[in-house]
Amino acid sequence: MSQSGIVILGAGQAGFQVAASLREGGFVDPVTLIGDEPGLPYQRPPLSKAYLAGKVEATGLALRAPAYFEDHGIVHRGGVRGVAIDREARVLHLDDGTSFAYEHLVLATGSRNRTLPMAGAELAGVHHLRSLADADCLQADLAGAESVVIVGAGFIGLEFASVCAARGLAVGVVEAGERPMARAVSAQTASYFTQSHEAAGVRFAFGAGIRDLVAEAGRIAGVVIADGTALKADLLLIGIGVVPNQEIAADAGLEVADGIVVDAHLATGDPAISAIGDAARFPSRFASGLPGGDRVRIESVQNAVDQGRCLAARLVGRPAPYDAVPWFWSDQGPHKLQIAGLSSPSDEAVVRQSGNGLSVFRYRDGRLSAVESIDRAADHMAARRILTLGLPVTPEQAADPGFDLKALAKGV
Ligand code: APR
Repeated sequence: MSQSGIVILGAGQAGFQVAASLREGGFVDPVTLIGDEPGLPYQRPPLSKAYLAGKVEATGLALRAPAYFEDHGIVHRGGVRGVAIDREARVLHLDDGTSFAYEHLVLATGSRNRTLPMAGAELAGVHHLRSLADADCLQADLAGAESVVIVGAGFIGLEFASVCAARGLAVGVVEAGERPMARAVSAQTASYFTQSHEAAGVRFAFGAGIRDLVAEAGRIAGVVIADGTALKADLLLIGIGVVPNQEIAADAGLEVADGIVVDAHLATGDPAISAIGDAARFPSRFASGLPGGDRVRIESVQNAVDQGRCLAARLVGRPAPYDAVPWFWSDQGPHKLQIAGLSSPSDEAVVRQSGNGLSVFRYRDGRLSAVESIDRAADHMAARRILTLGLPVTPEQAADPGFDLKALAKGV
């Protein structure tokens, strides 16, 4: 048994951030960061964008150079999984037989890809994309591919579709819903991106599931979709969402409900254990009126970073409830999508358009819930401030290109 102090399980963006912010906040006791991936913490967003497109190398993804961890006294253990928490003894057990005592345990366990529950999903040429290892496998396979099928028109699927289309590959996207990104954006934003991807040569099948995966010599060769249409595929990417890594918390008797349930201070029911990032379900004013109730689980870099900072502040004696405005971005072909706030598919949509791109203002129960901006970074930045401060923007003002959003956001 070694260490004590603060033990962080999960060395992704959230886990790294809490470690870094603890040191910035003057925390002097041991900090141990434990992750199941082999290397030091890295940025995931470029994996489906610049990294896959060959524009950035693996070393360029590192959140910090190795020396940073040594200089800041952050002990990193890679390639090991937490398997059990002994809450009474305050000990975390790992799969290599080692154990870590903790004064406080941070669960930053993230999420994992949903898998397609059907025969053939294990064939060579069938991929997921979440980790650096996934991206490397995908990249190697992509080199010889001429046709690609993607299951799921979410963020991962569409970012990958752009990269493939830019390489001149034949790209088909099979999506269960009636439009892309339905979980997160309005019909208007979805339609803008559908047209943009189609113009780049991507072919969509909406309202469609996969009936069969077709193999040739042990490798994926194609798919048959529900209506019987056959699509050729040298490579198949499955991007059908993620599930939270919550089992270790549930096994330890902590409350879970599609995520590890925490309070406004990101604490679980055990005062010695907190949870942050993709794995945490937390109360948020931005979730008010959403189908899941007032608690939400958010998969984004912003959420991971801001929750890491918020928790570190509490652990060094400066507690404040978590209240950051959610925001998110996705690069697809020539377009940048930025989202501030949280919408429900049934939220009203008001389009603001002039010149380049457009923004869609979403309203729930008469209140601004989210703003989706396409190639309109200034609208996005104003929206983040407007939502943070709860400033009123009527649908009429939102639709009026002459209405000065920036001035409203700045309070002038
Ligand atoms: N067949 C076809 N489509 C499906 C199926 C299925 N069996 N199951 C789900 N889908 C569709 C959903 O309707 C949705 O449009 O897959 C899409 C998944 O989209 P996301 O939930 O955005 O998930 P994904 O694209 O995998 O991204 C995972 O990574 O980029 C980050 O934070 C981002 O939360 C996102 C995460």
